[in-house]
Amino acid sequence: MSALTELYKEIALCQQCEIARFRTNVVPGEGAEDADILFIGEAPGYHEDQQGRPFVGQAGQFLDELIASINLKREQVYIANVIKCRPTGNRDPLPTEIRNCRSWLERQIEIISPKIIVTLGRFSMSMFFPGKSISKIHGTAVKQDGVIYFAMYHPAAALHQAALRETIIADMKKIPALIEQEEEVEEEKPGPQQLNMFDM
Ligand code: URA
Repeated sequence: MSALTELYKEIALCQQCEIARFRTNVVPGEGAEDADILFIGEAPGYHEDQQGRPFVGQAGQFLDELIASINLKREQVYIANVIKCRPTGNRDPLPTEIRNCRSWLERQIEIISPKIIVTLGRFSMSMFFPGKSISKIHGTAVKQDGVIYFAMYHPAAALHQAALRETIIADMKKIPALIEQEEEVEEEKPGPQQLNMFDM
């Protein structure tokens, strides 16, 4: 059994948060175990909870288009979320839920060992770029311990604010070059504002 499949079994048993009691399915994530790109969204919504798969609703359709725009298929990347259960009524994830779920994400990162981690939206961004503002850092990359971190707006933002659509498309198009020219992305020393998620 693959390392991810084993992990999914463990995640399916998790009952750390109250929302676990209300889920139809846990949504651990999906994609290639050896993916170069790991996308991290926020939390499952209604459709994701129903199907047990990340990004299958409207925002997911846009994410699929974005992935296709860099000539990749969904199966070639990995898509995860900060939390694996749907927050009741689609509310924002709570800090305790993010903390409880963090070790699952850490293990996914360890197994996949991606070249680039792309944060989608502010909850995901704040795990890797604490204290930063998405309007300032979207489309910019930093590197720590050889891994590139790249912040993007959440695809759902384009559904609410049409003006962001082109920005999101343009940011996505930067990803292939970042992977190609990885050595040119400046390595940052972790400082107070750049703690990575393992230190939070
Ligand atoms: N939004 C997310 O952040 N994740 C999903 O899986 C679906 C929508």
